[in-house]
Amino acid sequence: MKTIRPPRATFHQLRTLEAVVRLGSITRAAQELHLTQPTVSAQIHELQQALDAVLVEPAGRGIRPTEAAQLLRAAALDMFARWQRFEDELQALHGLERGVLRIAGVTTTEYFIAQWLHRYTTEHPGIEIELAVDNRDAVVRRLREEAIELAVMMMPPEQPPLEGVPLMDNPLVLIAPVDHPWTRLARVPRRLLDGAPLLLREPGSGTRLATEEWLRAQGRQPQIRATLGSNEAIKHAVAAGLGVAFLSRHALADDPARDGVAIVPMAGTPIQRRWMLVWRRDRRLSLAARRFVEHMRAQPPQSPATTPASPAPAPPGDTGQAV
Ligand code: PGA
Repeated sequence: MKTIRPPRATFHQLRTLEAVVRLGSITRAAQELHLTQPTVSAQIHELQQALDAVLVEPAGRGIRPTEAAQLLRAAALDMFARWQRFEDELQALHGLERGVLRIAGVTTTEYFIAQWLHRYTTEHPGIEIELAVDNRDAVVRRLREEAIELAVMMMPPEQPPLEGVPLMDNPLVLIAPVDHPWTRLARVPRRLLDGAPLLLREPGSGTRLATEEWLRAQGRQPQIRATLGSNEAIKHAVAAGLGVAFLSRHALADDPARDGVAIVPMAGTPIQRRWMLVWRRDRRLSLAARRFVEHMRAQPPQSPATTPASPAPAPPGDTGQAV
């Protein structure tokens, strides 16, 4: 085996060299590192001696880093990154027995998010879960305020900038009372929605947003009969005959008749959406959160058998990281 010689430089010296090369100035590096200028100069001098290489040359009233210094800076950055990975691994070895996973899911996820969390805590029994279930706007607010690290939602916002992985389809179906005349038709034309009584979720709901976008795209104008604050309230109101509504297929029983409703075979439906697991791109995730992301990537959730048989193609951006 090849013998690895220990470097003839300390991390302190390399940290200083990195700042000097990046900033092109001993003075500015000293300010950034909260060191005196003579200390910075002495560390650079020691490095030059140890490596037998010139790292900075005089230029005007300041200095100019040499090519050797640029190379050394690149090597130092590699070492720092490797060290960071090592610290993560060390924490994984000792630390993941404790920790908190702070996560939020939009309303419909309440029907199955507990199963995902159960699988995760089976692998990581020391992790405590803090789960919030709320509508889309409230989940986005929690991400902005950093009250949570991870969120499960559809239609992620542009701000804050997020990364994510696609999880599973969320088809939004049109439901009506079981005895509604539309439920006896093989195909219901979209134009029948014009003037029909429609129930909507509250403002801030992703289901509402997706429904409104779809209605706008189709040029349909139903009559908004009522606004209700939860999926369950929508189901009960539809069953009671107050109106029709779009709702996640996952919020319904395998046999929707058990909820007193039926899925209307309307042209252009279901509205195809997809849930994503997202997190802020500008924040470093805790180990507990990173492990959850890895866990969901390794074991993506299967859509329950209730999902309609012909899912639409995945929305764009599904394979990428940024959302
Ligand atoms: P929300 O949930 O309507 O409560 O925002 C959206 C969703 O369930 O995907």
